[in-house]
Amino acid sequence: MLCHRALVVLFAVNVPIVTGLEPDFVYPLENVTIPQGRDATFTCVVNNLGGYRVSPSSSASGDHSGSGKARVAWIKADTKAILAIHEHVITNNARLSVTHSDYNTWTLHIRGARREDRGIYMCQVNTDPMKSQSAFLEVVIPPDIISEETTNDLMVPEGGAAKLVCKARGYPKPEIMWRREDGTEIISRTGLSGGKTKLPTAEGETLTLSKVTRGEMGAYLCIASNGVPPTVSKRMMLHVHFHPMVQVPNQLVGAPTGTNVTLVCHVEASPKAINYWTRESGEMIITNSKYAMSEMKTSVYSVQMRLVIMNLQKQDLGGYKCISKNSIGDAEGNIRLYDMELPEHSKIGNRRLEDDADESIGDRDHRLNRVYQGSLRETGSTLEPAFDADDNSASTTSRENAPPAVGVVLIGIALNHLLAST
Ligand SMILES: *[C@@H]1O[C@H](CO)[C@@H](O)[C@H](O)[C@H]1NC(C)=O
Ligand SMILES: *[C@@H]1O[C@H](CO)[C@@H](O)[C@H](O)[C@H]1NC(C)=O
Repeated sequence: MLCHRALVVLFAVNVPIVTGLEPDFVYPLENVTIPQGRDATFTCVVNNLGGYRVSPSSSASGDHSGSGKARVAWIKADTKAILAIHEHVITNNARLSVTHSDYNTWTLHIRGARREDRGIYMCQVNTDPMKSQSAFLEVVIPPDIISEETTNDLMVPEGGAAKLVCKARGYPKPEIMWRREDGTEIISRTGLSGGKTKLPTAEGETLTLSKVTRGEMGAYLCIASNGVPPTVSKRMMLHVHFHPMVQVPNQLVGAPTGTNVTLVCHVEASPKAINYWTRESGEMIITNSKYAMSEMKTSVYSVQMRLVIMNLQKQDLGGYKCISKNSIGDAEGNIRLYDMELPEHSKIGNRRLEDDADESIGDRDHRLNRVYQGSLRETGSTLEPAFDADDNSASTTSRENAPPAVGVVLIGIALNHLLAST
């Protein structure tokens, strides 16, 4: 009994405890993927390290401590550089450090990871033969758009071609996707056939648009992503230039004196045009107590021009022009305003009749409006009243025809009929 105890004490005092178990890794070393600039760590957990005698030849450091306890070393496997032994950093890299905790845990810290830090890291124990485990450090870089190589706002004439380029750096190499800011589809024409494909998005560094139409004008976004947040995008404007175009929904407008009359022109132009109204004589119309003008944007390149002539008088009758001018050219639309006598007994309804062509007004008023604001369409030599003003747009070059008596009579009859039936 005594003898046995003495043996134990002897061992404890004079030599390290040899358990007989070889050092072993508790967990596999885990791969690490980290964005550039962040800190990375590898954790190596080794059990039974203390009780193992190391043969001098297999010491990872090859240093003086060869016959001591086994040691944990960190090695960069691809360059074969020894980074650290135990807690001592050997490599000349101030961003590396090793901490030792809980007896069996060695942690390699890489501060502010850089691209060159990527590679295989090995945790090695200098047993004989040596034991090691390794894992990969990947340093990723979020996408960044290279502005010098990326298109800015573009201008193309209608019918021309536009090439939009977007380049991005990052690791892994970012993928580029295109879409339109307003969500409309991108039209690409491919091959000799010129077949069109419409897709909500397009891929690749270059987006080529050919035979560009005004409908393709607007903001395009190039979006670069590589799985590393944040995804980045750049917005570029595609301006499509074309000669102004004027459309006149109602070229002939009849109204009773004393009422307010609204004349309307639709204008398409790019670059943005200056739009104005003139009398037939060319005299420019300015806003005053007689006239109110307004413009309403209906798309990136189109506006609705409205001219309200208040308290219509005999001298207000005649021709009006809406004119649109931009750097490419100009266009005009013509409207002829004529007096339309209301039958005597319908005068009571005047107030309601005078509301302009607001779509929200009651059905009866709406129909009446169409009657006295509806345009006349020329068919052969006779003019017919066109009661449906909606699909009755006339193009830029209007004919300067005064309404013949028959047209007015027809309208008069129609009005009488409508009023009588209400
Ligand atoms: C670690 O990364 C390497 C290299 O990319 C790969 O071959 C290996 O399968 C990865 N190991 C684990 C556990 O994901
Ligand atoms: C015409 O419009 C003006 C200004 O909006 C308004 O004050 C006037 O009452 C209108 N006249 C008629 C007859 O509706």
